[in-house]
Amino acid sequence: TITTRRGLLQATAAAGVVAMVPRLALGQATSDVLELAAERTTLPLYPGVPSELWTYNGVAPGPEIRVRKGERVKVRLTNRLDEPTSIHWHGIRIDNAMDGVPDLTQAPVPPGGTFDYDFVAPDAGTFWYHAHTRSWDQVARGLYGPLIVEEDEPVFDREHDLTLVFDDWRLDGSDALDTASLGSLAEWAHGGRLGNWLTVNGTSVPEYTLRAGEAYRLRLVNAANARIMAFDPDSFGGLVLAYDGQAVPEPARLGYAPLLLGPAQRVDLLVRPGRGGSFSIAEVSGGAGVEAVRFVVEGDATASQDLVRLVPNAIPEPDLEKARQVRLDMRGGAMADIGDAVHKGEPLVGEAFRRTRQVWAFNGVANLAEEPLFSAAGGESIVVEVHNATVFPHAMHVHGHHFRVVERSGSTVDEGAPWRDTFLIGPRQTTKIAFVADNPGKWLLHCHMLEHAAAGMTTWFEVV
Ligand code: C2O
Ligand code: CU
Repeated sequence: TITTRRGLLQATAAAGVVAMVPRLALGQATSDVLELAAERTTLPLYPGVPSELWTYNGVAPGPEIRVRKGERVKVRLTNRLDEPTSIHWHGIRIDNAMDGVPDLTQAPVPPGGTFDYDFVAPDAGTFWYHAHTRSWDQVARGLYGPLIVEEDEPVFDREHDLTLVFDDWRLDGSDALDTASLGSLAEWAHGGRLGNWLTVNGTSVPEYTLRAGEAYRLRLVNAANARIMAFDPDSFGGLVLAYDGQAVPEPARLGYAPLLLGPAQRVDLLVRPGRGGSFSIAEVSGGAGVEAVRFVVEGDATASQDLVRLVPNAIPEPDLEKARQVRLDMRGGAMADIGDAVHKGEPLVGEAFRRTRQVWAFNGVANLAEEPLFSAAGGESIVVEVHNATVFPHAMHVHGHHFRVVERSGSTVDEGAPWRDTFLIGPRQTTKIAFVADNPGKWLLHCHMLEHAAAGMTTWFEVV
């Protein structure tokens, strides 16, 4: 376990600071190219204390990219770091060549180099982008930002549509970003890197003003390396509109607590504040809640009763009867056995993990088997039955596709088999996901606890 002087995510008052993510709207002109520069930037994470971050365009989170559903997105990445990088557009059912995975879908962009991303965003919803080269390091230093795809006819105008990107940073004894602890093998073998400083849109407890009687959409993104965040939307009357960018059929009261938001997951909430006062969203994964973001409600209208419904995206329904069954066994980590696993053909026995840094395996292989997990014909339905034989929870992400969570041992699929791009699986749990493999190319399937992904929990599949 990680203990710090400050304990878990203790927030101090940076009250009154309103952190707005800079918004770069691409508008309708599809010839616009958005420039993103990955660069070193000195910013205060803890008020008054400079930290060296790695950012897109000098801000962390990076600029909010907003496009319309079906719009073409063009981004030129310039690498001003001293090491290679690349960008992954998380949750976008994207053209494979634009997926940002080094050595699988593109060559990593060298220092001084550029890469032109050019893709269509087929689904409306809340997505994000982040570095996908040494991501356990680059994301922890700040290389991520929100990507919002608006509906054809947006239900909320910009004033009623707020993006809230959560991160838990690790500060050191002087309250600067702790980079010395990056890459700790002990953390790779346990629950990953957990931080001690919670920010929303880069600020501790930012404050937003809402108008009583109006309806707002809050888009929550968990950009943490490894923390499964937890929230209680019922406590402030929040209704769930969407998971991982995909609308649920009706705005729904959760009815239980907490709502878990794993690394890389998103949830869109509808809030309709009534007159007066204020409310907060607390992050409750540590038990006692930590205030994360505060809303001041102005005006004295009663709460809006407006019916709000998002139009779902068209995602092909998997055929569960005819689906090809794939099994994925997750093993390894501290306090469990990795079995007869290999990495690049080398058995992971004895002290091999110190050199290879591989401590987890999927079906007996740590990090990128030569053969894909499966190779699907375009349009084939796939069921992946995932067995987690480790004693840790994981946040499993499938690239290029959304899937339904159709079965989960030891609990009901309480959200009604939602579409997701990242699912949580508990220790010793089995979960089945189903999707139509309809996007040609080579796609990763990995744990989004970024230390786990680097330490073995990464595989891939192919759609031909
Ligand atoms: Cu959000 Cu493979 O990543
Ligand atoms: Cu994991």
